Amino acid sequence: MRIVVTGASGQLGHDLVDNLRHDNEVFPFDLDLDITDAGAVDEKIVEIKPDAVINAAAYTDVDGCELHPDLALKVNADGAENLSLACRKTGAIMVHVSTDFVFDGNKKQPYTEDDKPNPINMYGRSKLVGEEHVRSLLSSYYIVRTAWLFGMHGANFVKSIIRSADEKGELAVVTDQAGSPTYSRDLAEKIAELMKSGFFGLYHITNAGICSWFEFAEAILAKSGRGHVKIRPITSGELDRPAIRPAYSVLKNGQLEKRGIPLLRPYEEALEAYFKESL
Ligand SMILES: NC(=O)c1ccc[n+]([C@@H]2O[C@H](COP(=O)([O-])OP(=O)(O)OC[C@H]3O[C@@H](n4cnc5c(N)ncnc54)[C@H](OP(=O)(O)O)[C@@H]3O)[C@@H](O)[C@H]2O)c1
Repeated sequence: MRIVVTGASGQLGHDLVDNLRHDNEVFPFDLDLDITDAGAVDEKIVEIKPDAVINAAAYTDVDGCELHPDLALKVNADGAENLSLACRKTGAIMVHVSTDFVFDGNKKQPYTEDDKPNPINMYGRSKLVGEEHVRSLLSSYYIVRTAWLFGMHGANFVKSIIRSADEKGELAVVTDQAGSPTYSRDLAEKIAELMKSGFFGLYHITNAGICSWFEFAEAILAKSGRGHVKIRPITSGELDRPAIRPAYSVLKNGQLEKRGIPLLRPYEEALEAYFKESL
């Protein structure tokens, strides 16, 4: 297949390109194809005429989105619309990556693909509008919601915890948000598998298992040989950040199950693999 990947220098984009380039002709773009520029997107997609476009580009700074709502909508909503229009024009399949933050976090059990989104911050709202553009403009699409990504390329929680542990020797991490940490390499592999299935639609894809950021930090320290570093449990309120976060954003990977597509491994195993692979 001829596949365009946007956001190719990002955490997930990088792993998608790595995975897909073995069996496909991949056209990676990052800021050199600004997805908010409708004309440039149209021109590039028409020129390449790909079989599929994967949108891994996004404005992912959750607090930044709160402070710059216009930019959040421009990148996360208009960007998705521009790519969808180009896919509609050329007949390309679209894979659009979205987030657990489309949910409000009030549920006490994993969110299914049928649950109604109700975002509580600007990042979630802008990502949901992006999803709606894909859904309304295309019929051959995969929307993949994921959560708590960590990977080798780009900034993420695993790297922040290790840096803080090494620099400060102690940490304070929130206990009142639960989710499923997800290794971007595992997700990239699953997206590649899903794209071969032809089962279009909305998918929740995360590594298996549920934890708080505090528990995830404990696992990171233990698995990286820093088990001696002390972590102080705190609440989200103590951090006083611009954007509120859902308290519970666990995603049930129900559509994968329904289609008989194997689920991702537990996040602890993925974290071990991350440390082995990053050596
Ligand atoms: N990270 C998470 O924990 C998480 C959780 C749930 C869902 N997701 C979703 O998963 C996807 C991938 O996330 P990620 O963590 O890989 O993100 P990332 O590392 O921030 O990568 C996103 C990439 O998109 C680029 N980009 C930003 N604006 C752009 C524009 N206008 N045109 C083209 N490229 C642009 C970024 O460049 P700059 O860095 O230079 O701005 C960056 O290279 C996103 O859709 C995100 O919403 C992420």
